[in-house]
Amino acid sequence: KLGIKILATGRAVPKKKLTNFDFEKIVETSDEWIYTRTGIKSRYLCEEESCNSLAVEAAKKALEKSGIDKDQIGIIITATSSGDYVFPSVSAMIQKELEIDSNVNCFDLSAACTGFIYALTAAKSMLAFAEKKYALVIGSEQMSRLLDYSDRTTCVLFGDGAGAAIIELSDGEFVQEGVTLGNNEALCMDGIRGNVPEFGESNLDGDGLDKGALTENDSLVDTGVAKSGIKMKGQDVYRFAVTAINDIINRLLDKNNMTMDDIDLIVCHQANSRIIDSVKKRFKGHEDKFYLNIDKYGNTSAASIPIALSELDDENKLKGKRCIIAGFGAGLNYSGILAQL
Ligand code: ACO
Repeated sequence: KLGIKILATGRAVPKKKLTNFDFEKIVETSDEWIYTRTGIKSRYLCEEESCNSLAVEAAKKALEKSGIDKDQIGIIITATSSGDYVFPSVSAMIQKELEIDSNVNCFDLSAACTGFIYALTAAKSMLAFAEKKYALVIGSEQMSRLLDYSDRTTCVLFGDGAGAAIIELSDGEFVQEGVTLGNNEALCMDGIRGNVPEFGESNLDGDGLDKGALTENDSLVDTGVAKSGIKMKGQDVYRFAVTAINDIINRLLDKNNMTMDDIDLIVCHQANSRIIDSVKKRFKGHEDKFYLNIDKYGNTSAASIPIALSELDDENKLKGKRCIIAGFGAGLNYSGILAQL
């Protein structure tokens, strides 16, 4: 069995919805600027919720809908860059909250907005060797934790949310491609740093051991916890994204000897409606196959694709469809899957 089948999906967003008008109160911007440049009208903001609680809620919904025995889940992978803790993983929290049998592989995966594609691919690969039948794959983000809300060029773009899918292996086709450009300047978020002792030159004795006494060169340096928010060169990312989606679609089609006529549905990472509109123009006659929901959620990074899949599933527009799923983001990286879901 080479492919995957999506059995059920779920999604969760925080209660608080922020419209573009809300941003007019905190930075110099306008609904008109945000909507015309990005296609975003609103996004959700965690208040009582968090990355972990949204992930748990989305996973719970998927599990309930699937009707499977939850102890037959052998793999839980969450794609995220904003989990509540550096460790333990979001996936470990899901295992606990959903009371899934402890004989399960749980880990998180970091590939920014492309994370869910890699999580699906990793889950599928692990299922091939697993004794248990199902994998639970989640994308969850609390982007609001990573943003500087005084920076109008980024804070209006992102939102919080989570999506989940339960998958099993199938007979359908499955091809995946990934590309990484190793560019850290276009899109970056600083890591966490603590107080790091900075040692001067060692004060060695005759045996080559440091005598341990502090010298005037030794000190405790406060390197500062990341406070800077996401840094993005918007136009560079925009150009990269259009080329990336176009390239990944063509690579997947070529690899599977197919054309767009063979594809029912295209689900891209939702970063900006103009990016998707630009790609659509390169695939004339197939515009209707591209899914778009950024107006409601903003850019939810690794959660955007599973949220879209879950909406499509609710409308009975997912299962059995031959689908291209394409992600792109910080790395810079991009990756896609062609599969009959
Ligand atoms: N409101 C009003 N004005 C703004 C805002 C805002 N929120 N943000 C920027 N501006 C201003 C700028 O300061 C600039 O003003 P200036 O001309 O006086 O200097 C002007 O608007 C134009 O700025 P640009 O950056 O040139 O605007 P652009 O048309 O490129 O749109 C945008 C910016 C929306 C960020 C666009 O470049 C884009 O969508 N890029 C891709 C971003 C993206 O998708 N990122 C995430 C992808 S990967 C991932 O998901 C992690």
